[in-house]
Amino acid sequence: MENNNKGLMLMVFFFFFSSMLTFSTQKTFTTIAPNQFMQYGDTLVSAAERYEAGFFNFGDSQRQYFGIWYKNISPRTIVWVANRNTPTQNSTAMLKVNDQGSLVILDGSKGVIWNSNSSSTATVKSVIVQLLDSGNLVVKDANSSGKNEDLLWESFDYPGNTFLAGMKLKSNLVTGPYRYLTSWRNPQDPAEGECSYKIDTHGFPQLVTAKGANVLYRGGSWNGFLFTGVSWLRLHRVLNFSVVVTDKEFSYQYETLNSSINTRLVLDPYGTSQRLQWSDRTQIWEAIYSLPADQCDAYDLCGNNSNCNGDIFPICECLEGFMPKFQLEWDSSNWSGGCLRKTRLNCLHGDGFLPYTNMKLPDTSSSYYNKSLSLEECKTMCLKNCTCTAYANSDIKDGGSGCILWFNNIVDMRKHQDQGQDIYIRMASSELDHKENKRKLKLAGTLAGVIAFIIVLSVLVLITSTYRKKLGYIKKLFLWKHKKEKEYGDFATIFDFSTITNATNNFSIRNKLGEGGFGAVYKGVMVDGQEIAVKRLSKTSAQGTEEFKNEVNLMATLQHRNLVKLLGCSIRQEEKLLIYEFMANRSLDYFIFGLNFLTNEINFFVYSCHNVVPMLT
Ligand SMILES: *[C@@H]1O[C@H](CO)[C@@H](O)[C@H](O)[C@H]1NC(C)=O
Ligand SMILES: *[C@@H]1O[C@H](CO)[C@@H](O)[C@H](O)[C@H]1NC(C)=O
Ligand SMILES: *[C@@H]1O[C@H](CO)[C@@H](O)[C@H](O)[C@H]1NC(C)=O
Ligand SMILES: *[C@@H]1O[C@H](CO)[C@@H](O)[C@H](O)[C@H]1NC(C)=O
Ligand SMILES: *[C@@H]1O[C@H](CO)[C@@H](O)[C@H](O)[C@H]1NC(C)=O
Ligand SMILES: *[C@@H]1O[C@H](CO)[C@@H](O)[C@H](O)[C@H]1NC(C)=O
Ligand SMILES: *[C@@H]1O[C@H](CO)[C@@H](O)[C@H](O)[C@H]1NC(C)=O
Ligand SMILES: *[C@@H]1O[C@H](CO)[C@@H](O)[C@H](O)[C@H]1NC(C)=O
Ligand SMILES: *[C@@H]1O[C@H](CO)[C@@H](O)[C@H](O)[C@H]1NC(C)=O
Repeated sequence: MENNNKGLMLMVFFFFFSSMLTFSTQKTFTTIAPNQFMQYGDTLVSAAERYEAGFFNFGDSQRQYFGIWYKNISPRTIVWVANRNTPTQNSTAMLKVNDQGSLVILDGSKGVIWNSNSSSTATVKSVIVQLLDSGNLVVKDANSSGKNEDLLWESFDYPGNTFLAGMKLKSNLVTGPYRYLTSWRNPQDPAEGECSYKIDTHGFPQLVTAKGANVLYRGGSWNGFLFTGVSWLRLHRVLNFSVVVTDKEFSYQYETLNSSINTRLVLDPYGTSQRLQWSDRTQIWEAIYSLPADQCDAYDLCGNNSNCNGDIFPICECLEGFMPKFQLEWDSSNWSGGCLRKTRLNCLHGDGFLPYTNMKLPDTSSSYYNKSLSLEECKTMCLKNCTCTAYANSDIKDGGSGCILWFNNIVDMRKHQDQGQDIYIRMASSELDHKENKRKLKLAGTLAGVIAFIIVLSVLVLITSTYRKKLGYIKKLFLWKHKKEKEYGDFATIFDFSTITNATNNFSIRNKLGEGGFGAVYKGVMVDGQEIAVKRLSKTSAQGTEEFKNEVNLMATLQHRNLVKLLGCSIRQEEKLLIYEFMANRSLDYFIFGLNFLTNEINFFVYSCHNVVPMLT
């Protein structure tokens, strides 16, 4: 009896102990089969150990998520979350796959809190779950060739806030958009937020960022090379973008040309999308491009029938032959009223078209397109329809092909420096003649002047070529003054580098508020007690000032501008600091994430600090 009891106790103890053991050992899987499960601490790694999947939390162990991140990048960068809307509440949560191929996450009480719903009716002999080196979590038949068609389910079909190489943003032109990015609610909550980044297929397909139903920014329409709204030319050296448009489907994806590069596009809770690339050298996600890049990217900033041009002031102008609807508001930079035609179109007696070059095409959401028409046919078609106001090629490859037509008002068009495409805007013939006459007169009048000017110029060029460098500085200083006085009013202070080192305890880790794409942010206290936030820019600028300037010039946003006061900057060799007023009641996320997108700060830096410092020393 006693022996029996002892034996039983031993057995119970053994079972208890062994179950303790299994619960405390963290397992590493390369595949998961239906007889296995994963729980907190366990990881599933991809073949080349590039990505890792498992349960994680945001510091609150009660809310657990199953997600995917880069195995070798720290801090942990989450690229996908399965149960983003339904975190578990219990640390005994587990992930399993059933025989039919459905991935499920169970909470502590074995209730299903997330289900991939990927059950296959086909007879699958042996289901396995695998994480591919692309970051794609897949469920497939162990016996299958591994081709995409054979997958029972893949996480790439359900993007979160991150667009990875190989993912597809896809729109079914018949049933509407179904695959697009949605932002997180906030950096600590991956639940579906308000913002989306998607291909809008009303009219000619275009890339849009929206908050709820409102468009925030348009990437523009695809012209065969790129989206006409964005400056991705540089990226084409690193990434291969491809867009497929058929009658039934529009899909957009990219591949990295160098597979060892880690790159991602992430949509933040405010609707800003950033292209980031991991730098092994600086151990930071460097921002390559962001949308919005400048004020003109704000949707419909200038109202109807206008053109936004960031290189002139004011940035909004009515199209040729149009005038502001509300002149007073227009003059005080309220452009929302847009512009009206000066002369009514006369549909029957032949209107004409005025070409605009290097344009981001207007909103195509109510446009018509036909890819088999030529530009000439396009024009004819537009002339035939009295409400048609503009036309353009839908593809600029090989000299241009296809046709897009716009009706009524022209919305959200902008001018680019060196990209974009041609568009032809309908005008009354009288306006066109008027413009032509004015042009001829002006031409004749200026011809004499130009000749004189050329003579003077060539002499000047001769004289000044030896002083080019100095002149460069003067020009830059002038530009900087001109531009910055407008934006920042007074000169910002240039702080002594050691003042800032002291204020931040030599950039002590304790003072660090966080880290974003452009660098780390520290809190500091000045000798007089003023609290500051210091942004230590990552050393992106090593690529050369001019290149850096061009690149960051593109990255600016309105939305956070003027919310935090920029006190000044500081520079010492490679180190570049931006100093802000610290506001205690702003959330940290604001300083870490919000400021990332304040790229005017970079402009400011390049124009003022960089140019002033060499001149002062
Ligand atoms: C987790 O689940 C177990 C088993 O159902 C339960 O006993 C425990 O109270 C739960 N803990 C929490 C924090 O919900
Ligand atoms: C799976 O189906 C259930 C029931 O229809 C639904 O509630 C759930 O959201 C689906 N899961 C996913 C990941 O779509
Ligand atoms: C297919 O899977 C079964 C296990 O379910 C295995 O026994 C068999 O060898 C596999 N066949 C191939 C061709 O891999
Ligand atoms: C880019 O992708 C397209 C289609 O996927 C492919 O045909 C082309 O060869 C790729 N280009 C490069 C440079 O890899
Ligand atoms: C790919 O990128 C890695 C890391 O940036 C670099 O070392 C390598 O030379 C690149 N390969 C090619 C073919 O460009
Ligand atoms: C801009 O002008 C419009 C039209 O007149 C008016 O409705 C709107 O309130 C103005 N906005 C601002 C910010 O003044
Ligand atoms: C496009 O234009 C061609 C040539 O005029 C015509 O045959 C075709 O039906 C049009 N397609 C659509 C979708 O309207
Ligand atoms: C002009 O185009 C509009 C928009 O596509 C269409 O609704 C209208 O019927 C067309 N009018 C004519 C006369 O073709
Ligand atoms: C601008 O154009 C759109 C589309 O044609 C129209 O609905 C809207 O009323 C116009 N806005 C103004 C201020 O005229």
